[in-house]
Amino acid sequence: MGTGPTQTSAPPVPGAWPVLGHAPALLRDPLRFFGSLADHGDVVAVRLGPVPVYALTHPALVHQVLVTDGDLYERGRLFDKLSRIVGHGLLTSSGPPHRAQRRIVQPLFQRDQIACHLAAMRAAVGDVTSAWRAGQRVAIESAGNDIALLAVTNSLLPPRTGEEVARMVKENLPVLMRALVLQIALPEWWTRLPAPGNRRAERAVANLRGAIAEALTRHRAVPAGRSDILSSLVHARDAAGKPWDDVAVIDQALSLLVAGVETTGSTLAWVFHELARHPHAERQVHDEIDAAAAEGISDPRQLRRLIYTTRFLQETLRLHTLSFFMRRTLEPCELGGVPLTAGAEVVLSPHALHRDPRWHPNPETFDPDRFKPGTPAIPKGAYLPFGTGAHRCVGEHFAFTEILTALTMICSRWRLRHLPGTRVREIPRIEVHPSKFHMLLEER
Ligand code: HEM
Repeated sequence: MGTGPTQTSAPPVPGAWPVLGHAPALLRDPLRFFGSLADHGDVVAVRLGPVPVYALTHPALVHQVLVTDGDLYERGRLFDKLSRIVGHGLLTSSGPPHRAQRRIVQPLFQRDQIACHLAAMRAAVGDVTSAWRAGQRVAIESAGNDIALLAVTNSLLPPRTGEEVARMVKENLPVLMRALVLQIALPEWWTRLPAPGNRRAERAVANLRGAIAEALTRHRAVPAGRSDILSSLVHARDAAGKPWDDVAVIDQALSLLVAGVETTGSTLAWVFHELARHPHAERQVHDEIDAAAAEGISDPRQLRRLIYTTRFLQETLRLHTLSFFMRRTLEPCELGGVPLTAGAEVVLSPHALHRDPRWHPNPETFDPDRFKPGTPAIPKGAYLPFGTGAHRCVGEHFAFTEILTALTMICSRWRLRHLPGTRVREIPRIEVHPSKFHMLLEER
C-alpha cells in the first residue's frame, strides 16, 4: 500500500468545484471518476457538495472496513438516501437492528430454501421466453429485467397475487434508482426542492409501497402454510417473540425488490452480451448446458454440474458489477494511516477494484479461467460482486440459481447473436446497466 502509518490526511483528488465539490465529475461519468482515484492513493479525499468522503482504492483497506473493522462502521450516505425508498429493512439497516433482521431473513435464502423458488424462477423464464421465435430480435436488457422481476415477485408473493406489484416495480424502480444517484451526489437542500425529478421520485415511492401494502392486506386475509417469502416474513418473530408489523414487512419486501431485481436483470443481459462476444467460451457453456439438460435439472443442487458456466458468470460479474457503495464511521478510527473522525463517509467501487490491473492482470480481457482452481488467488477485497462481511448479499444463492436456471432454459434452445454494428454502453446507477440493445434469436 502506498499509505503508511505516518500519513495524517488523505490526499485530495484534484478537480473539485466550488460548492459542488466532485459531484459534477461523479454525475458526468462515475465509472471514469472512480477508476481514476487509484492514481492519487489508497485512501483519497473527495467532496460531494459540502460532504467530505474518503474513497478506498486498495483491497486490504476495503477488507478492513467491510470485515475486520466492520463493527466500527454503519451503512452511510447511500443507504440514508435509500432508506427514504425502502424504509429500514435489511438493505438499509446497520448494527443490532440489522443483525436482528438478518437472523430472520438469511435462513429464507439458504441453499435448501432456494429449492422452493426454483419453480417460480422457471415460470419467470418461461413467461418471458415462451413467445420467442427463430429470427426474432429480442430487447435483451428488458428481457433480463423482466425475468428477474418475475422471479423475485413470484418467490416473494403467493401465486397469482404478484402482477400488480410486478407492474409497479417495473414502472417505478428505474425512476427511483435514477433519483438516488442524484440525491447522493447533490446537497440535501436540493432533494427538498419541488423539482419535477424529486416529485416523480416521491410518487414512485408511494406507488411501490401502496402496491405492496395492498398485496399484504390480501395476504393477511388468507390462511398460513405457504412457501412464499412474504408468508415467512408475516409469520416471523423477533427475539422477543413479537411478529413484525405491516411497516416492517413492507420495508423488508421492498428491500428485496430493490436489491434483487435490477442487479440480477442487468447481470443476465451482460451474460448474453459476453456469450455472443466469446464464441469459444460460448461453445463450452452450450456443451455443458446440453449435458446437464440431458440429465434433467429439477433441483438447484444439479446446477453445480455447470462448472464452466459458473466461472463464466463469475467473470461476467467481475467486469459488470456495482459502481459503488458506502459506509460511515461510528467512532474515530484509522484507515491506511489516515485518522477518521466519527461520522466520516467512506466510498468504495467494486467496478474500479475489479478492473485494477494490480489485482486482475489484463483486466479488460474476458477470461472465465481466472476462476479455475489452481490460478493465483485474487486478494481479499479485490473481488466483491456480492460484497463481503456482515452485509454480504443475502440473495447471492438466489441470484446464481436464477441466472443459471435462465441460462439452461434459454441456451438449450437458443443462441443469441448481436446485430451488426451493435454497441453496448455501460449506464451507471448503483449497479451498471447495459444500454438498450437487441439480439437475434437463432435456433440451435
Ligand atoms: C447479480 C445479482 C446481485 C448482485 C450483484 C448483488 C450485490 C449485492 C451487494 C454488493 C451487496 C452488499 C452491499 C453492501 O455491503 O452494502 C448486496 C446486499 C444485499 N442484497 Fe444483493 N445482489 C444481487 C442479487 C440479490 C437478490 C436476488 C436479492 C434478493 C432477492 C438481494 C438482496 C440483497 C439484500 C437484502 C442485501 C443487504 C444485505 C445485508 O445488508 O444484510 N440481492 N447485494
